[in-house]
Amino acid sequence: MLTDRFGRTIDYLRVSVTDRCDLRCTYCLPQDFKGFEEPPHWLTQDEIVRVVRAFTRMGTRRVRLTGGEPLTRGHLPELAARLAALPGLRDLSLSTNGTRLARHAAALKAAGISRINVSLDSLDRSCMKGITGRDCLPAILAGLEAARAEGLAPIKINMVAMRGVNEHEIEEMAAFCIARGFLLRLIEAMPMGDTGRATEWLDLGPVRDRLVQRFGLVPQARELGGGPARYYSTADGGASVGFITPMSQHFCATCNRVRMSVDGTLYLCLGQEEKFELRPLLRGGADDVELERAIRAAIELKPREHDFTRQPEKIVRFMSQTGG
Ligand code: GTP
Ligand code: 5AD
Ligand code: SF4
Repeated sequence: MLTDRFGRTIDYLRVSVTDRCDLRCTYCLPQDFKGFEEPPHWLTQDEIVRVVRAFTRMGTRRVRLTGGEPLTRGHLPELAARLAALPGLRDLSLSTNGTRLARHAAALKAAGISRINVSLDSLDRSCMKGITGRDCLPAILAGLEAARAEGLAPIKINMVAMRGVNEHEIEEMAAFCIARGFLLRLIEAMPMGDTGRATEWLDLGPVRDRLVQRFGLVPQARELGGGPARYYSTADGGASVGFITPMSQHFCATCNRVRMSVDGTLYLCLGQEEKFELRPLLRGGADDVELERAIRAAIELKPREHDFTRQPEKIVRFMSQTGG
């Protein structure tokens, strides 16, 4: 089992399989974004499997594949199938922007991905184009339907709530998700890199009060994932909405995760710079005992909490490097 200095059990690993993306969300990617070939500093599929296997031997039960956009990485279903087969892993999930889901939903399901989280910030085609830089809404909606048809469930929708951009659409998005059985999560934008910092976050406290009123929501005690969302459900329990509030009400005391970027760097907190590079070990002939020792040493570096609200300028890393 992996436990940090503050007594938190770390059993959730987020693995970024690429830092690239086919979209350009205003709050996420650096402006000078590059092409698609795989550079040598990216971990290979074998290296990723080796690290995740080491984590699962030390008690990791949940793994989420992230990006950038993970479906732009070649052979992702094959990687997913290899990870799903690791003993001890209970929950293999994927965070995607949905543009390529229609093409890949069946292969992902067959590979053992049990559930997916899909970014969708607006139901208005031109607003989505403004946020993501691409006319992507029809492809994402088709992807969601394909995923549902394949039985990937639950399907969570991630909506980053932005002041002056999509805040007027929140109720409509909630109604859309409730009607279709998608689980909406509203997210406060975090100041990651200069693009993230340029995004005005919206306090979700008052939004939650409004949605509670309108949809008759009650706090949900049951855990609906492994992450930081706090859920509210309709009275019959049939639909839920989650709130991810790193800015107005953080959740660091119960943090259970670390993340690995595509170059094999472990980031111990999304909102702090502590990190540990595993690639030199992986490529320098370290055996599994040394790898596990290094991972334990890295977990020792995990800080108590993020610093987004006190020092918003501190994190120069872009969200696309770790995929949230
Ligand atoms: P599940 O609960 O397992 O479904 O996943 P999740 O909500 O953790 O994953 P997802 O990739 O959908 O992330 C949703 C949002 O939560 C993104 O904006 C992430 O950046 C944010 N998030 C996830 N983990 C953390 C965390 O440890 N700290 C902070 N501050 N934000 C996080
Ligand atoms: N703040 C909060 N959430 C973000 N995401 C991307 N960038 C940010 C940011 N700056 C979210 C996307 C995606 C998830 C993995 O991270 O909505 O669904
Ligand atoms: Fe791509 Fe997701 Fe970042 Fe948008 S939030 S640019 S879809 S990685």
